[in-house]
Amino acid sequence: MMRRGDQRTEMAPPQSQSQYRCRRSRSRRPAPTAAVVLLLAAWVVAASGGAGGGGGGARRRVLVANGLGRTPQMGWNSWNHFGCGINEALVRSTADALVATGLARAGYTYVNLDDCWADYQRTKEGYLVANPKTFPSGIKALADYVHSKGLKLGLYSSAGTRTCSDKMPGSLGHEDTDAKTFASWGVDYLKYDNCYKDGTPETVRFQRMSRALMNSGRPIFYSLCEWGYMEVAKWGGAYGNSWRTTGDIVDTWSGMLANIDRNDAYARYARPGGWNDPDMLEVGNGRMTYNEYVVHFSLWAIAKAPLIIGCDVTSVFRETLGILSNAEVIAINQDRMGVQGSKVRTYGNGLEVWAGQLSGHRKAVLLLNRGASRPASIAAAWRDVGIRRRVTVEARDVWKHETLPGKFTGSLTAVVEPHSCKLFVLTPFPR
Ligand code: GLA
Repeated sequence: MMRRGDQRTEMAPPQSQSQYRCRRSRSRRPAPTAAVVLLLAAWVVAASGGAGGGGGGARRRVLVANGLGRTPQMGWNSWNHFGCGINEALVRSTADALVATGLARAGYTYVNLDDCWADYQRTKEGYLVANPKTFPSGIKALADYVHSKGLKLGLYSSAGTRTCSDKMPGSLGHEDTDAKTFASWGVDYLKYDNCYKDGTPETVRFQRMSRALMNSGRPIFYSLCEWGYMEVAKWGGAYGNSWRTTGDIVDTWSGMLANIDRNDAYARYARPGGWNDPDMLEVGNGRMTYNEYVVHFSLWAIAKAPLIIGCDVTSVFRETLGILSNAEVIAINQDRMGVQGSKVRTYGNGLEVWAGQLSGHRKAVLLLNRGASRPASIAAAWRDVGIRRRVTVEARDVWKHETLPGKFTGSLTAVVEPHSCKLFVLTPFPR
């Protein structure tokens, strides 16, 4: 039998670093019926049985039966690029830019304010209010604007007395009031951080907000930002739609890889409705090369990580847009099976194979050269990727948008440049 595993493919040469800075809505499936939601809830309880933290799988109730996050969430968040320097004009122009660039059509639905959107203190009556200097029109008006663009609005708070910036109050002890306030403003998403906590365990504080959101009268996507501190992947699925498995991402090659490696340890806990979150994208923020950002986006796609853009989309470079808008890569991330791909083979010198199951008996396969010095030939063997020995496949290079000539049996090998990757979708042949 002829093996085509040696066939090689080419990649564009690496490009210089400085020129690459940043710049679909609606879920693709109808909301699940109540029956499906209940079924999912029951499955989650079963799947999380025996996990640490929350106090025993059998007794744990699934609070987050909100039907959201059937595929990893996609959107934009202010933090990675703007930090605390946000205001309502920026958020409005970001919503405009998401639509104008086609990113909204590509699936980036959520427009999420991170830390620093609220006034320093609560009102006398105990309510959170928008910072009157930076958000003078208030959050309700902003939500209306974002909704008018066909997008959704996200907010941020903390399971502590203050948020991490210490510029606004946290929601600890105010969960019900705050969840109802968010719902009354038309908020669609909450990122919930872990600063200024008291001695109460994470499992209790994050659960309280889960319950409050479920009682708020509005489906609100619940993104836990616990940093993987208490192995949140093992219990986060009972309470939230996604959970941070890592500390904050850094816009460097090694920082990005450290986050995805740590996230990989929890691959089995991801599933439709609840996702591991290795933190938001740095693509376009300028401290990695073009090829490194391609690797970043490819790893997040295959690992079913949330695709939350972290750059300034109002002044995005074409190359950045090309990465973030690649429909074939996004389709891997948004595949309806929701299976997190993971590292299946490590060779020496930083050469790796990542793979994950896709619908239609297909596989996503990523060949990664972490080395800095020379191109390398990397083989994805069927036994590593999880394909039966004699199966023949077609291979689609989703960055080149080309189906490779020939068919492959047993393995697929390609030459990969330093700090670069190749990403393929393998489809059994004949179909
Ligand atoms: C923490 C989170 C970040 C960001 C900041 C805001 O560090 O992990 O993602 O939200 O707080 O202060």
